Amino acid sequence: MNILVTGGAGYIGSHTCIALLEAGHSVIIADNFRNSKPETVEKIMDIAAKEVIFYEIDVTDAEAVNIIFKNYKIDGVIHFAGLKAVGESVQKPLDYYYNNIVSTIVLTKACQKYGVNRFVFSSSATVYGDNTVPFVETMDLLPTTNPYGETKAISERILTDIAKADPSFSISLLRYFNPVGAHESGLIGEAPNGIPNNLMPYIAQVAKGKLERLRVFGNDYSTVDGTGVRDYIHVVDLAEGHVAALENLTEGVHVYNLGTGKGSSVLELVKAFEKANDIEVPYEIVDRRPGDIASCFADASKAKQELGWIAKRDLITMCRDAWRFEKNYKE
Ligand code: NAD
Ligand code: UD1
Repeated sequence: MNILVTGGAGYIGSHTCIALLEAGHSVIIADNFRNSKPETVEKIMDIAAKEVIFYEIDVTDAEAVNIIFKNYKIDGVIHFAGLKAVGESVQKPLDYYYNNIVSTIVLTKACQKYGVNRFVFSSSATVYGDNTVPFVETMDLLPTTNPYGETKAISERILTDIAKADPSFSISLLRYFNPVGAHESGLIGEAPNGIPNNLMPYIAQVAKGKLERLRVFGNDYSTVDGTGVRDYIHVVDLAEGHVAALENLTEGVHVYNLGTGKGSSVLELVKAFEKANDIEVPYEIVDRRPGDIASCFADASKAKQELGWIAKRDLITMCRDAWRFEKNYKE
């Protein structure tokens, strides 16, 4: 299939482009490099030893999007392009609502206009809010605590309504848990700007000596050791989940958790990183981070049953691959 991958130069998008190319699909990337670099497109082609077509456009720009649909026979869209920093979304809500929601509307309108009916959307486990673990796709969603989370919940509703109104549409809403790690080549991975907000890149930068020590946000949650529990998933497993979702799309709207189904605490991740890489990660316990929940992990059985997909890579592999990328990475 010819797949349009919006945000294909980003962290999850770049790994997914490689998985698509390896599965024999053709890839057209649309990205404006708001949170990524042109070199990543070169690296995707180097790793996969295949060409991709690239458009530097903003996917909220309907005219620019329509040009791609006019120029190529697109069989499906995977829509990663979006802004994802939770804290920034509280400071700049309008930027987040505009970018993340208008992009979804512009792309689905182009799909309707050009008769493209396969659409895969990057959602997030954040839409579950502070629900009871494990999170199951059939649960009522609880309010999210920030504009970023709202953009995912609203986009899910828009796509659900589109699928209801137009039965020829096949839409997959993929709720990611916590993507970590990097491609085993060490060439692409997660390279956040400034001080990382997320745990794995923070740990990797402490290990590198770039940051002094990890601050563990609270050890008084009701979890295995008091620290927050999350479902960390290797980004390459996540990428493969997209290929499975795309290849198994049927009419209507389908929601899938993409996680491992297993929660790990902050301290368990620190220990796994130290063991995997034989390196020390100094840390201190500090106050809870506002907005955090105690535990978040998936019931991942629906994706296994319907897509034949499971996450295969363990915590040690995630830590080893995250560290290999961080060691190689030059800003
Ligand atoms: P990322 O920032 O690395 O990638 C997003 C890409 O989209 C970037 O290359 C950016 O330049 C591009 N982009 C943003 N707005 C654009 C626009 N208007 N037009 C064109 N390109 C645009 O983020 P990621 O971690 O790869 O996340 C991909 C998607 O998955 C996002 O929608 C994110 O919200 C969602 N998601 C991510 C996580 C996570 O932990 N990384 C978890 C759940 C959901
Ligand atoms: C964050 C986002 C969430 C998003 C998810 C995946 C917030 C509030 N939430 O969630 O919306 O969907 O990433 O991108 O940012 N931790 C530390 N020290 C650190 C960093 C994190 O102790 O320096 C802890 C956190 O308290 C949490 C765990 O590590 O228990 C994971 O944190 P993080 O990587 O930020 O992911 P989420 O909190 O799941």
